[in-house]
Amino acid sequence: MAPRGAWLVLAAALLVIGFSSSASASTDPASSYISCLNDQGTPAQTTYEDFVEGKPTRLLLRKAWWSEKAPRLQLTVVTGLTSSRLDQLEAQCASWKGPLSAAVYIVVRGDGAGGMGEEARGQLEKAEADAAEFHKKMEVADGCQLDMSLLYEVVADDVMTMLLPINVMRNYALVQARTRLVAMVDVDLLLSATLSTWMESKDNVDYLQRECAAKRVFVMPAFETPHNADQAVAHKFAGDAVAIDKKGLEEMVGKRLVHQFALYLFREGHNMTEYNKWFAADKPYQVGWTKDYEPWFITDRFLNPFYDSVFRGYGWNKVTHVNNVNGQGFTFMVHPSAWIVHRQHGRSGADKMYQSQKKAYEAEAKADPKKAEENTSLAGMTHRFRNKILAALAEGSYAPSVDDGVKGCVASLPWWQREDKGAAPFMEDESYDGARRRGRRLMLRGHGGGGGGGGGVA
Ligand SMILES: *[C@@H]1O[C@H](CO)[C@@H](O)[C@H](O)[C@H]1NC(C)=O
Ligand SMILES: *[C@@H]1O[C@H](CO)[C@@H](O)[C@H](O)[C@H]1NC(C)=O
Repeated sequence: MAPRGAWLVLAAALLVIGFSSSASASTDPASSYISCLNDQGTPAQTTYEDFVEGKPTRLLLRKAWWSEKAPRLQLTVVTGLTSSRLDQLEAQCASWKGPLSAAVYIVVRGDGAGGMGEEARGQLEKAEADAAEFHKKMEVADGCQLDMSLLYEVVADDVMTMLLPINVMRNYALVQARTRLVAMVDVDLLLSATLSTWMESKDNVDYLQRECAAKRVFVMPAFETPHNADQAVAHKFAGDAVAIDKKGLEEMVGKRLVHQFALYLFREGHNMTEYNKWFAADKPYQVGWTKDYEPWFITDRFLNPFYDSVFRGYGWNKVTHVNNVNGQGFTFMVHPSAWIVHRQHGRSGADKMYQSQKKAYEAEAKADPKKAEENTSLAGMTHRFRNKILAALAEGSYAPSVDDGVKGCVASLPWWQREDKGAAPFMEDESYDGARRRGRRLMLRGHGGGGGGGGGVA
């Protein structure tokens, strides 16, 4: 353990130079986190062509804030979001008593030639200020211990500002998580209070770690509120549905205040969870799998496959991950006393774009499959990416496409080196607490954030 003073000096030095150095990467987890994301040069500004070619996007770290609060539970909730959804993250953080790893994404428009204008620079600065303020607020709130990174992408096409690299964000949030157990969720989901309570028991933690290490994932049944024109009303029902016990939840379902997630729009996505059985269950039970099954679950961080970066914007990004989880031989269990509830929000631009193209593409695929093969719309690309993955999985030759940032991090970050860790509870490791303590002082600053001026990402 280095003396306190040394870290302060290092922190000051790194702040001054804006973290372009990786000199201490091998010894200091916090700076190795920054370098593994940023030290591979600046990626070219993303074009729609890159998306069509399935090139994985590497994001740049603007800055990270790690919680100073001691981690209270041995499970990290992992999520990716855009900076416009901080209100959802706040509600999620309030619903969970343990660590939460969030990758916050902001996209700015570059000039396509490596530069970016005043407007983009201003957007990045504002996003950083908002994120800093938000994190401060979460630090004093009685909820999660929030580890948050602000990641950004500079894109060359207007359309790319709509196509969120959702799976890249999931991967980066996962990379930042340091407990052995992770709950992979989206930011618009609240966690039941019962999960926090359940995780307070050491026996439960041991059980879950053992089971997850044996390639079992634990599905948390998902619910949503009926669409309500008054968002505040919908949010209240969602909040109520995670605060009560399972019996109370069942009553809310009976009164139709909440229902099984996607029951009317995409029943195939969650039906395998067997909700009727779940309400009566007091033990975990195993369920089967279908190719459209897309539950959210708790899993072992070391075993969870990464998310395929080819998907952007909307469609099949999570189902294909579950396809792969099944393909890798995991068993799906359902957690008897944890659930999640969706919090209503407006539809994203990419969702609308995808839906508006989907019918036309499907009609074309039927009428003229050859021609459809060349259709480069979001819906067309997304469908073909998915079909390709299903085919590769059937052949046993599938490996998700991940960017160099994730690969570099997994290869170098101390909390990703499995051989040192064995099956020991990870939070007792020095690398975990040490990383936190250092991160705290560093207030990790990444690319384009130091010193102002300097041409930003260009
Ligand atoms: C959903 O699951 C239930 C059993 O839990 C079954 O009765 C029903 O047919 C399933 N529906 C669909 C659309 O798969
Ligand atoms: C994709 O197919 C639809 C339906 O035929 C068509 O309207 C659209 O222009 C095509 N888009 C591209 C980019 O090929």
